Amino acid sequence: MPGKRRPSAIFKPFNPNRTTRFALPDIAPSMLSSDFASPDRELARCRRANAKWIHIDVMDGHFVPNITLGPPILKRWVEAKPDLFYDTHLMIENPMAYANAFADAGANLITIHFETTSRPRRDLRSIKRLGVRVGITIKPRTPVKRILPFLNEVDLVLVMTVEPGFGGQKIIPTTLNKVRELDLFRRHEKLAYRLQVDGGINIETASLAVAAGADVLVAGNSIFGKGDVSTYLKSLRERLGSKPR
Ligand code: DX5
Ligand code: ZN
Repeated sequence: MPGKRRPSAIFKPFNPNRTTRFALPDIAPSMLSSDFASPDRELARCRRANAKWIHIDVMDGHFVPNITLGPPILKRWVEAKPDLFYDTHLMIENPMAYANAFADAGANLITIHFETTSRPRRDLRSIKRLGVRVGITIKPRTPVKRILPFLNEVDLVLVMTVEPGFGGQKIIPTTLNKVRELDLFRRHEKLAYRLQVDGGINIETASLAVAAGADVLVAGNSIFGKGDVSTYLKSLRERLGSKPR
């Protein structure tokens, strides 16, 4: 049932009182690198691999130099596979003009760029009122301190680990310092936001991101660029599970 769907049980808030981290991070395949000719098959591959977060990259050709998809496409995907968690990353100017349409299309989480809003608190609250989870994200050159005052409003913070706009780029390693800072901040302030990274995440860099405090890993090229999604995610999870944290 698309349209203002109930908050999904797939989303687990962070517990700032626990000293240990999530046993394993959630992995959110980015559909940007999937085969757009066969979305049903690609979503089914993710579900079979037990990857229930699906990362949707919305680009407008203004905020980023690329164009992807809008609410009608998302709606179709949600109708096809309604039991997944649609994590919607809006890389668009004026996100509030479209947030309602994405919620209606079945987004479970809507993340907006700090750089695209002049009134973050008001906008984050408006998104929340649509009945979805809300996230905020920053580009690599935007300092963490700009968003700290608003983090009591959000369910998720996304640290862009590449410049937004394209899949298949290399991680900018210094962005992981922001992940560390945001992990310390949520523990100190007892906030429950999830910490997500997006861009250049693969079997090598995933461990670095998790060690820095990330608990949701977006990955496009590394998941869909290889042969079998399940096999790849199995080896990724094994690698993460064997890392001391
Ligand atoms: C980039 C997007 C990413 C992208 C990541 O602007 O936000 O979600 O799909 O792709 P990879 O994992 O290939 O870097
Ligand atoms: Zn993204």
